[in-house]
Amino acid sequence: MVNTSSQPQTWSQRFESALHPAIARFNASIGFDIELIEYDLTGSQAHANMLAHTGILSVEEGEKLIEGLEQIRQEYRRGEFNPGVEAEDVHFAVERRLTELVGDIGKKLHTARSRNDQVGTDTRLYLRDQITHIRQQLRDFQTVMLTLAEQNIETLIPGYTHLQRAQPLSLAHHLLAYVEMTQRDWERLGDVYKRVNISPLGCGALAGTTFPIDRHYSAQLLNFDKPYANSLDGVSDRDFAIEFLCAASLIMVHLSRLAEEVILWASEEFSFVTLKDSCSTGSSIMPQKKNPDVPELVRGKTGRVFGHLQALLVLMKGLPLAYNKDLQEDKEALFDSVKTVRACLEAMTILMQEGLEFRTTRLNEAVAEDFSNATDVADYLAAKGVPFREAYNLVGKVVKTSLSAGKLLKDLTLDEWQALHPAFAADIYEAIAPRQVVSARNSYGGTGFEQIKQALAAAKQRLNES
Ligand code: ARG
Repeated sequence: MVNTSSQPQTWSQRFESALHPAIARFNASIGFDIELIEYDLTGSQAHANMLAHTGILSVEEGEKLIEGLEQIRQEYRRGEFNPGVEAEDVHFAVERRLTELVGDIGKKLHTARSRNDQVGTDTRLYLRDQITHIRQQLRDFQTVMLTLAEQNIETLIPGYTHLQRAQPLSLAHHLLAYVEMTQRDWERLGDVYKRVNISPLGCGALAGTTFPIDRHYSAQLLNFDKPYANSLDGVSDRDFAIEFLCAASLIMVHLSRLAEEVILWASEEFSFVTLKDSCSTGSSIMPQKKNPDVPELVRGKTGRVFGHLQALLVLMKGLPLAYNKDLQEDKEALFDSVKTVRACLEAMTILMQEGLEFRTTRLNEAVAEDFSNATDVADYLAAKGVPFREAYNLVGKVVKTSLSAGKLLKDLTLDEWQALHPAFAADIYEAIAPRQVVSARNSYGGTGFEQIKQALAAAKQRLNES
């Protein structure tokens, strides 16, 4: 019997009646796994090639199958291939269309293969492409952050711990922290890629196959590093997807923290940045508002990716070997995570590139109006031989009296300093000036300008190398 596109999927002759229509809809994955079609076609072409290569099919049969699959690819790209729910999934949809196109030979494609190893192959091919794309997006984001950092070495910004002013920073140092985070994200994805890039093709349903297939050959055709060494593992493993979702979640953590900072910075209270019209939105009722929708959405979408990670972990934990239909549930989690990460990376890159402006004058002023140079007074005394803890207590006292007098440390007279401790000299004023405070933190990885220049150079070199 020839399947036509509108007929329901039929099983072997063991089955006497068709699926209940609601159950057919419930069972089907075509609504979302059509996303895999290009990978399904590529995987099937490699399989057909291998079948001919090993003599399981004739060379002509192999060629016919490969051409037919290519024709489906063209149909799909032209928008002409739109299988419905009756196809069940993308694998059946392709196989039945192939049989329509090339005749009964199409039915030979599934020799020595199962949908179990097929879907595993498709998912890995898909994820490989997505990882490559996301890594490039991370590079684009880093390039923008690096440029911004380079322009702001001399811009100072309050540094916080507990969201309390702590010590002033170079804005470049703050921005470069995100370059470092996303560098690890980039490396992590490269590492995940290694474990995605293993071929389950030829594992069959679970036990391998009676045909003399060549799994190394098909793996090579698809640029996999190697085939899975155990067929049960190959068809039922989804740890590669979970690992990807871990890496994706960490990217989202990093983007979300930056998003949160931008939201704070854009508030009236901080006023560290101005949002540009191209990346902010208004309120439907309050005409004065300019809202940071982009970073808010990034922060909000982060939860989706964490949720998908959790979903997949729970999906896997109780599954006996090997394939179970539960595994069909991995796809939407994966697809949505990929879409979310890609969209958020794109939006944050645009936001940082052209969506906001740092209010540098206000930032430089901000660091002069607080007690974030208090550590430097203690360091000043400690450098003159006063034990640090003693110096720390003394400065605590002077901060307290200054606060009640409504003064800043820079307003104290030399007499007042010397009354506190005789080691103070006129150079105390220079030592607590914000620019000096930042510049002096020249320890490796610190915010000192010399360190930042080195960090910038190292980050640039990394970008050029990959
Ligand atoms: N649509 C299925 C999935 O996504 C393909 C594999 C089906 N295998 C099976 N034994 N029913 O997992």
